[in-house]
Amino acid sequence: MIIAIDGPAASGKGTLAQRIGGHFGYVWLDTGLLYRAVARDALAAGADLEDGAACARAAVALDAGTLGDPALRTTAIGEAASVVAKHPAVRAALLDFQRQFARTPPGAVLDGRDIGTVICPDADVKIFVTADVEVRARRRYEEYARRGENVTYDEVLEIIRQRDARDASRAAAPLKQAPDAVLLDTTGMDIETAFQAALNIIAHVTIGRSEAR
Ligand code: C5P
Repeated sequence: MIIAIDGPAASGKGTLAQRIGGHFGYVWLDTGLLYRAVARDALAAGADLEDGAACARAAVALDAGTLGDPALRTTAIGEAASVVAKHPAVRAALLDFQRQFARTPPGAVLDGRDIGTVICPDADVKIFVTADVEVRARRRYEEYARRGENVTYDEVLEIIRQRDARDASRAAAPLKQAPDAVLLDTTGMDIETAFQAALNIIAHVTIGRSEAR
């Protein structure tokens, strides 16, 4: 069973994917961490993030054991990740790892931007999670405030707007809803409500598929 959860920055897709994985006993991968880790390693090597070949070298050498690094969670690394993520060679270098992870029995939940469109086009369930940009900025701002990051709400809003624009406009695997994904708009929902809505979508899609057989 493969569940693909895509959506823009701070849509809540990571929290949802983690909870869905826990609920069904499936493994979970936050694929944004892969791009964040490549950005971290490229910067540490002194690479220019606009240099696709240098970033791809960092992607090929990536040690998946370092994905728990708390330094990956900062705003600056998120920004840098969305720059390295536009290079097709970086995306190609991360493809096999994600596809193999997706095949972990008895099931896997992957969240990102291109899981339903590129990484797992045959995923059993695809959910595209979104929310109004102001709501996403508010959630992300509160997360940063809890962690003591020194950033204002307006700055977070601006960063998220820019990140969405960059992720949606790039040529390689842009952020977009797969035609067969179900849209889940979590504006006005708390995490519990969003989780129940996601479980309903999964039940609908999987029951619908077994009835069609
Ligand atoms: O989801 P997160 O904010 O951690 O992702 C950081 C960046 O990594 C995104 O802005 C996006 O550019 C990139 N990314 C991607 N494809 C994915 C996951 C993340 O391009 N599947």
